[in-house]
Amino acid sequence: MIKPIITSLAGLVFFAGVRAQQSAPLVVSADDIVAEIQPTMYGIFFEDINFAADGGLYAELVKNRSFEFTFPLMGWSQPNSDRHSLNENSGFASVLRSNREHNPHFCRVEVKNDKGYSLINEGFRGMGIKEGETYNLSLMAAKHEGNISRVHFRFVDESGKVLGETSIQPGDGEWKKYKTAIIPTGTAAKAQLKITFEGKGTIDLDMISVFPEETWKNRPNGLRKDLVQLLYDMDPGFLRFPGGCIVEGRTLNERYQWKKTVGPIEDREGMVNRWNMEFEHRLTPDYYQSFGLGFFEYFQLAEDLGAEPLPILSCGIACQFNTGELAPMDELDPYIQDALDLIEFANGPVNSSWGKIRKDMGHPEPFNMKYIGVGNEQWGPEYIKRYKVFEKAIKEKYPDMIIVSGSGPFPDGEYFEYGMKELKKLNAEIIDEHYYRSPEWFRENADRYDSYDRNGPKIFAGEYAAQSVAIASPENRNNWECALSEAAFITGLERNAEVVHLTSYAPLMAHKDGWQWTPDLIWFDNLGSYGTPNYYVQKLFSRNKGTHVVPVRLNGKAITGQGELYATASLDKNTNEIIVKIVNTSGKEKQEKITFRGVSRLADTAKITVLQTGDLAAENSLDHPVSISPKEKSVKAKKDRLDVALQPYSVNVIRVKKR
Ligand code: AHR
Repeated sequence: MIKPIITSLAGLVFFAGVRAQQSAPLVVSADDIVAEIQPTMYGIFFEDINFAADGGLYAELVKNRSFEFTFPLMGWSQPNSDRHSLNENSGFASVLRSNREHNPHFCRVEVKNDKGYSLINEGFRGMGIKEGETYNLSLMAAKHEGNISRVHFRFVDESGKVLGETSIQPGDGEWKKYKTAIIPTGTAAKAQLKITFEGKGTIDLDMISVFPEETWKNRPNGLRKDLVQLLYDMDPGFLRFPGGCIVEGRTLNERYQWKKTVGPIEDREGMVNRWNMEFEHRLTPDYYQSFGLGFFEYFQLAEDLGAEPLPILSCGIACQFNTGELAPMDELDPYIQDALDLIEFANGPVNSSWGKIRKDMGHPEPFNMKYIGVGNEQWGPEYIKRYKVFEKAIKEKYPDMIIVSGSGPFPDGEYFEYGMKELKKLNAEIIDEHYYRSPEWFRENADRYDSYDRNGPKIFAGEYAAQSVAIASPENRNNWECALSEAAFITGLERNAEVVHLTSYAPLMAHKDGWQWTPDLIWFDNLGSYGTPNYYVQKLFSRNKGTHVVPVRLNGKAITGQGELYATASLDKNTNEIIVKIVNTSGKEKQEKITFRGVSRLADTAKITVLQTGDLAAENSLDHPVSISPKEKSVKAKKDRLDVALQPYSVNVIRVKKR
């Protein structure tokens, strides 16, 4: 059945007819518990795409701080250095290689005269700096020849105006770490860091880093506070990391290897980001992974958010949209060992090899990891073969670990059917399904899980988002039609909480000047951020999930689009409330009666939170971040009944206490 968002007159007449037949009440059977809603029902999918980590959540302002990019001076410029002219040259920087095992490159600056040589870092499409806040600067330096007596660091804006400065006095000889700070005298979204030198001579520089002092929980090497706050406000049940296709890599060599992302940050071996060249229409050659945000920080973030950590690991298959490179079956051991060692890193005692590394990083207590994902978006027999080996090895050592497997990139078709069939045969515990589909698909599939086997594997709706144009089209918008359609679909996820245990929108974040994939849940620039309408849908459902599903029916049937309404209901046993979520995808206001069976009397008033706009094309933006955001009102209850007016194109969450 097609569930249109009506725009034509014919449609209005047709649906007016349907409306007339709908004088029947919506009936909530409050004493008829269908299923428990898992605390993990609504969670977060994090992937370093769209500058989500470096340039986004990870608060470092300096791009290519350790000179390890393929073009080692990418992100750096030397405006008045002319290497071709010996006489005019004020100085120059070269990138050299040391004998360090990881991140071996460093920058050698030779200052030749007093003609104003400078080395400038452009940040991630600029650096966001705020007047009066403290920015901690650190670097490694070693002075060799000459008399460079001072190194100056200045924030400059796009016109070159200085917005704050500091300096260090480099000592002679060996590498030493220097720390100082800049307090900007102005605010700028696209500042740069300009380094100048007093005196002439040669100096080596490495790990040039600038962080706002104010990060989430004020941690050094920390995360952007505004972005974590948006995540925290969602009250997520889990945090899946680090992706996404980034787990798999374009080749096996480029897969995500968590062991390279823990320990001292200067020893974490950076790597290109696979999203840099994925889309011709959004080339981002300067996209790398510093791994400053690594697995320890992901676990810590999950803990801060009160969310279950859900890491996904490579299963020995590179991204099948790229090379699909396979690790031969007899060479899978290192991949499996990575999984086993990760469990030890997260949960092992402090005297175990990996538990000790966690302790040394400042977290002796285990992270209590319960889930592990094997492969991201793999498909076909090669995946099933590898999954079996992983499953055996993990369960042998950690029988309680819950394994998440994948059904591939599509929600239907040959690959999907094959994966589901095989994984069911293997009694897979949780299967990850992905759907990037049109808004209409989301409205049409609100009943997708009604027919899923209650005794089969549980479902992780691990990546989904309505695409207003086409999958990953650069024209896709985070508009209200998409968000409303997702809300309609989510009623079906929650109604089927017996089967669906985890859900997450994807991708999570995008830098407005550095993205590759749209739509995304949260957008930001170097100074600010906002939640899309889709974000508010996620937040509303997550914060109002309740503890147990109860039926809400119209004419005895689940509400999956009749009269363009979608609904689900739950109890919150902690607060003794009944929660009814109704999505009205029609362009007309609907007067609905809701009767509550199994309740002798409702509290006098119910609270209704409404997310609504009459404009399906409407969006939020950095300038208007909360145009579409929830508004609260109350409605009087009549013993066991509520009469509600559902605005056109609205998501409504009704909470009422049982007396
Ligand atoms: O969310 C963006 C990408 O979509 C993910 O990396 C991948 O798993 C899916 O194809």
